[in-house]
Amino acid sequence: MKPFSCILLFLLLSIAGKTQTDKIFIETNNTALVYKIGKDKKVTQVYIGNKLSRSDYKDLNAGQEIYLTAGIDNQFEPAIRAVHNDGNPSLDLQFDHYNQRKEANITYTQIMLKDPAYPFQVTIHFKAYNNENVIKTWTEIRHQEKKPVMLTQYASSLLHFNAGQYWLTQFHGDWAREVQMAEEKLSNGIKNIESKLGTRTNFYQTQTFILSLGKPSSENDGKLIAGTLGWTGNFKYTFEVDQKNGLRVISGINPFASEYYLAPNEVFTTPEFIFTYSATGKGLASRNLHKWVRNNALLDGNAPRMTLLNNWEATHTSFNEQRLTELFAEAQQLGVDLFLLDDGWFGNKYPRNDDKAGLGDWQPDRSKLPNGIAKLVQEASVLGVKFGIWLEPEMVNPKSELYEKHPEWILKLPNRAESYGRNQLVLDLTNPSVQDFVFGIVDDMMTKNPGIAFIKWDCNRSMTNAYSTYLKDRQSHLYINYTKGFYSVMERIRKKYPHLPIMLCAGGGGRTDYKALEYFTEFWPSDNTDALERIFIQWGYSYFFPSNTISAHVTSMGKQSLKFRTDVAMMGKMGYDIRVNNFTEKELEFSKNAVKTYSDISDIIWKGDLYRLISPYDQNRAVLMYVNNSQSRAVLFNYHLNLRKKDSFSKVLLEGLAPSKNYRIREINLLPDTPSALPDNGKIFSGAYLMEVGINIAAGKLQSLTSNIIDITEINR
Ligand code: DGJ
Repeated sequence: MKPFSCILLFLLLSIAGKTQTDKIFIETNNTALVYKIGKDKKVTQVYIGNKLSRSDYKDLNAGQEIYLTAGIDNQFEPAIRAVHNDGNPSLDLQFDHYNQRKEANITYTQIMLKDPAYPFQVTIHFKAYNNENVIKTWTEIRHQEKKPVMLTQYASSLLHFNAGQYWLTQFHGDWAREVQMAEEKLSNGIKNIESKLGTRTNFYQTQTFILSLGKPSSENDGKLIAGTLGWTGNFKYTFEVDQKNGLRVISGINPFASEYYLAPNEVFTTPEFIFTYSATGKGLASRNLHKWVRNNALLDGNAPRMTLLNNWEATHTSFNEQRLTELFAEAQQLGVDLFLLDDGWFGNKYPRNDDKAGLGDWQPDRSKLPNGIAKLVQEASVLGVKFGIWLEPEMVNPKSELYEKHPEWILKLPNRAESYGRNQLVLDLTNPSVQDFVFGIVDDMMTKNPGIAFIKWDCNRSMTNAYSTYLKDRQSHLYINYTKGFYSVMERIRKKYPHLPIMLCAGGGGRTDYKALEYFTEFWPSDNTDALERIFIQWGYSYFFPSNTISAHVTSMGKQSLKFRTDVAMMGKMGYDIRVNNFTEKELEFSKNAVKTYSDISDIIWKGDLYRLISPYDQNRAVLMYVNNSQSRAVLFNYHLNLRKKDSFSKVLLEGLAPSKNYRIREINLLPDTPSALPDNGKIFSGAYLMEVGINIAAGKLQSLTSNIIDITEINR
């Protein structure tokens, strides 16, 4: 090599080397989050977006601080605020070191920051999941000062964006109208999405959001992040648009009424913030997150689920052993796997005949069930049906033996009247004795009845008048320690019963976050089971949750046909909550066939890629499809809502198929003796045709509240 070339090569290598040493790369297959270590020892975020080649980052040197502190020169919302044990309310976080290691699909990075004047450190963790293009981040806060340090803010994550304009999609609601989507343009200043509910935390606001960058995004277009916090307690997101139209997104536990006194050497670990970046719209973001949840969060995320018959809407609390035995027979007739006994089976001194009494007394009601639960499990199994049971372990009715025995186990303010929600109070899960009691409810049930194959874990109120006798002068730890107490109970349950399916329920969908899903196999999205309403509710959940988590039961709540109600349940994790003995012969035949059809297609629905083709927010119809991983089979769902004269629907372009494969279109889940009215039924088309030309699924005279399910199967010819 000539001397000149040697010098050039040396220069290039040293530039490249410099680029490597002053930057920290958090990368998945397609996404990059890049930090720079400044000469002033400040770590700043210089890039977030599609992954570029390393040399592209070399000029990205101006950034914003990774974990903004309070008290010195930052005038915006901080990620962390600490008051040291000498009363100094400021924090300076400077780079100390970082390390990075690869573990198969994951790159794990830890960035250590420390205060030069106080023995106080923060470690920022990132796990980048290559294949799913998801990044998970959280922090650890610790110190070695002489006395506790008071933390008044302690975010899980701070991300900076410089897109100029931002659109925020949030998912908010109330009882029976969960996860309604609303999108708004962020203006200058702060927008918070938060919960202060303690339990049943995401009842009004959920932990999920989509942030579109530069312009609103659609299913297949636009840059965005979709983010969520794995925390079953109070949470808070702060979106702050500054005077230069930069945006900071701070995610974490809601610090409301929660100053945390961190003891020397104690580690405060914040919940995980999980996000994906998509440069091609919301559809890809959902598919990334669905895969991530199934592979990394959800308990037994890729294992099969059971179909079931629940008795809540059919009987409420009015039943006895004989009625239940009849219901087992109905479950058997339908062909579902399991019967789920809901609320109302317990309490003797204060029988649970409505929601006013009995919670906390988990002994079978001797007048309703003289032979106990064991007999029910046995009766069901004789019919080949598994048995599951409802519990609400965190709660107590004042009319209960538990309340009489342990008033000190209950969250309630001294010197104030008790405040009830659904006639009940919340047990104090910060107290280890209460944790033992709650664990014991499940353990006792499973030990006495090892045949139990399913639990529905309910939680029907949020916290008010919250005060813990156990916490004494550390009341501000209540919200945080309650959630940690809940996790510690769930850890114990999972250690002993690792694969027992448990449905997460909170008076409808009041608890649906990614951390809880580590302990649960599915959740109850809403007490609203009207199929028309459910289309919107299930649509909302579909942005973050894979369909095997979204329980959807066929009930008698809606006025729609049984076919429509069944088709809506089938797009999620199907079950029934209906009086099967009121079915006509034709309805029973249809439903038995539907259960069989569902077992044939459920794997595609649970594990396939979801494509939301037409949103019910845009048209008076909803169309979505799931495509299996090998693109050999897909299932399409089409729902006509309440139609109006103006509605005329064009062909639907399918997505996610292999262009060169041929597929047969076949309508399934039809009523007995009813042929399909779809003009393309039975025909074969190439994937390219189906995606470019599309199919007509709105032929003939359109009717409100009608639906179709279409099987799209690869044909080799
Ligand atoms: C609220 C749940 O959402 C319902 O499904 C049912 O289990 C009731 N609680 C029982 O009280």
